[in-house]
Amino acid sequence: MDAALRQLIRVSRAVGKDTSLVQGGGGNTSVKTRDGRRMYIKASGTALKDMAEGRGWRRLGVKSVLAILDEESLRGLDEGPRESRVMDRLLTSCDDGLADDARPSVESHLHAFLGRCVVHLHPVAVGSYVCAKNGRAALARLFGGRERPPLWVPYADPGYRLAVRIRRLIREYAERHGTGPSVLFLEKHGVIVSADTPERALAEVRRTVAICEGKSRPVRPARALSARREEVAGLKLGIRRAYFEATGKRVAVKHFAGEEVARFLGRRNARRLVSPAALTPDEFAYAGGPPLWVERGAADSILAGLRRRMKRDGRPAMSFLVPRVGLFVAGSENSIELVKEVVTASLAVRVGASAHGGAMALNRRQRDFIANWEMEGFRKQVAGLGGDGELMGQIAVVTGAGSGLGRSIAAGLARAGATLALADIDVSSAEQTAAVIGKETPAACAAAVACDVTSEEQVERAVQGVVDRWGGVDILVNAAGIAPPYSLVNLPLRQWQKALDINLTGYFLMARSAARVMIEQGMGGSIVNISSKSGLEASRENTAYNATKAGEIHMARGWALELGEHGIRANSVAPGNVFEGSQVWNPDYIKACARKYGIKPEEVIPHYVNMTALKRRIGGRDVADAVVFLCSERARTITGQTLVPDSGQVMVR
Ligand SMILES: NC(=O)c1ccc[n+]([C@@H]2O[C@H](COP(=O)([O-])OP(=O)(O)OC[C@H]3O[C@@H](n4cnc5c(N)ncnc54)[C@H](O)[C@@H]3O)[C@@H](O)[C@H]2O)c1
Ligand SMILES: [Zn+2]
Repeated sequence: MDAALRQLIRVSRAVGKDTSLVQGGGGNTSVKTRDGRRMYIKASGTALKDMAEGRGWRRLGVKSVLAILDEESLRGLDEGPRESRVMDRLLTSCDDGLADDARPSVESHLHAFLGRCVVHLHPVAVGSYVCAKNGRAALARLFGGRERPPLWVPYADPGYRLAVRIRRLIREYAERHGTGPSVLFLEKHGVIVSADTPERALAEVRRTVAICEGKSRPVRPARALSARREEVAGLKLGIRRAYFEATGKRVAVKHFAGEEVARFLGRRNARRLVSPAALTPDEFAYAGGPPLWVERGAADSILAGLRRRMKRDGRPAMSFLVPRVGLFVAGSENSIELVKEVVTASLAVRVGASAHGGAMALNRRQRDFIANWEMEGFRKQVAGLGGDGELMGQIAVVTGAGSGLGRSIAAGLARAGATLALADIDVSSAEQTAAVIGKETPAACAAAVACDVTSEEQVERAVQGVVDRWGGVDILVNAAGIAPPYSLVNLPLRQWQKALDINLTGYFLMARSAARVMIEQGMGGSIVNISSKSGLEASRENTAYNATKAGEIHMARGWALELGEHGIRANSVAPGNVFEGSQVWNPDYIKACARKYGIKPEEVIPHYVNMTALKRRIGGRDVADAVVFLCSERARTITGQTLVPDSGQVMVR
């Protein structure tokens, strides 16, 4: 590995793991090669702490990057076309042969004309000054008398404008001081440190942050927050619903009540501190601004608050503060941690800034620029905040998700953007499904849940667990089922009973629990029973299966009637024979089928395929597609129906 790259990774990880220095995917670092001709720089959207030899960086030609700032034709362009032209130019300056889905940092051009090692961060301690009304003067006092005083950089739109401004200021600085600055304070943003070695850069970062932190006052322990579980769950539902009504989007909601949140909420002026709009580009881009303040017991004010915020900023808040209860963050499982980091850092900055005249927010024009900035869309996409799958943000529970159709259906829902609870009596198989999904759809969120669907208590606990974890339930797919292969005269009562327990009682218990949550949420929902073509047309040696699979279809019809007024749809999918990955189609079952038709076991699958109109095997994906469709907005007027992915074997009348 190139020595400069090794240094870059070391520096990036050292600062990246400290959330008081850098939050989420923010901050960036670069190291130039010895000859100064090339520059390794953090890739956009990835977190500093995640940088490794194989990812999270790009290498650019320094000369080619510097040429961007001198290009006449860029100056006259509007922001949109200009920023995308700049990014094209940055990408063509890359000489590392890597794919362009990793883009170099949007601040690459300003790194190009700074020292050999550049570290740009958003430390909370620095934010308390650069985001404060009197911050500039306070910094001048703190750092006064230095031979090379820090350079103050008034706010400029990130990207090209910021780079142009910094270059001009550095030239003026060099004329005055004979050399460039080692520390740059960026108004409403953060700090840049420039040095000739990574060690010096890191030391300068620490020194600067320590000076800004000043003498640390002993922190008084906060009174712990202790809201009842029901209140927290109710607020999560309220936030989900308001978010849905305001934006048409479904999100997961998590609750945080740690020390730092408790301490902030313990302040008398907490509400006032969160009233100024976003302080920094990152706070606006990642968190949609500061948390929305929600008085306790006033969950019905959330919608009005979100609507006001959308009117003002064109985007909703992603977080909510409730006195004595805590911080709630909305989003996807992946984005929530990141948003929480950005939000809690901003809370600390707001407290810090109050010692220097109070916080100074981005103005409307500055926020509009970020909102329209193409780079921001890209960063959010990389950070897992974007996504446009048709089930984006929907919370789905799939039973029998550890095997066969349940697994395929879960994978299909994940591809469509849903967050998944993988329920199975065999939790290790559900964990394997989570791993399969993680590989296929890395941005997806899927968690295994141990649950025997025949146990009322376990079903209640599983559904409540999903509500506690993500804030609600939008989709239920019942797929945990068995098929005891016996002729009528040989069917043991025990087997009959077991099929009834799993295929009927299990479907009922799950639907009852999920429907109760869906009704309380008031956002509609979708229930899909995985039946079988045997539920439409009886098959031989399948007494318990025929009965239960027909029962599932009929239960769904009744649910459709009852739940329709709540916007909850209930449908069935009756697949033909799916051999792949199913435990039902085990060698014994295949032998039983061979006996049934008087053929050899190896002829069983071709025999079944030959019975279809399309003469086509059915895969798990075919069934998953049918389920995704039924859960989607495209099926908005379909309820109480049965969809039959079976290559044309049984026709529904
Ligand atoms: N495979 C097919 O050809 C086919 C065709 C039509 C319909 N179906 C239906 O699809 C569903 C899944 O079938 P498959 O072939 O994928 O089966 P499978 O046996 O491969 O998977 C069933 C899963 O359900 C789980 N399960 C069993 N009992 C459970 C319980 N009490 N609680 C929770 N989980 C339990 C199992 O652990 C397993 O992971 C069934 O309802 C079946 O009737 C399958
Ligand atoms: Zn920054």
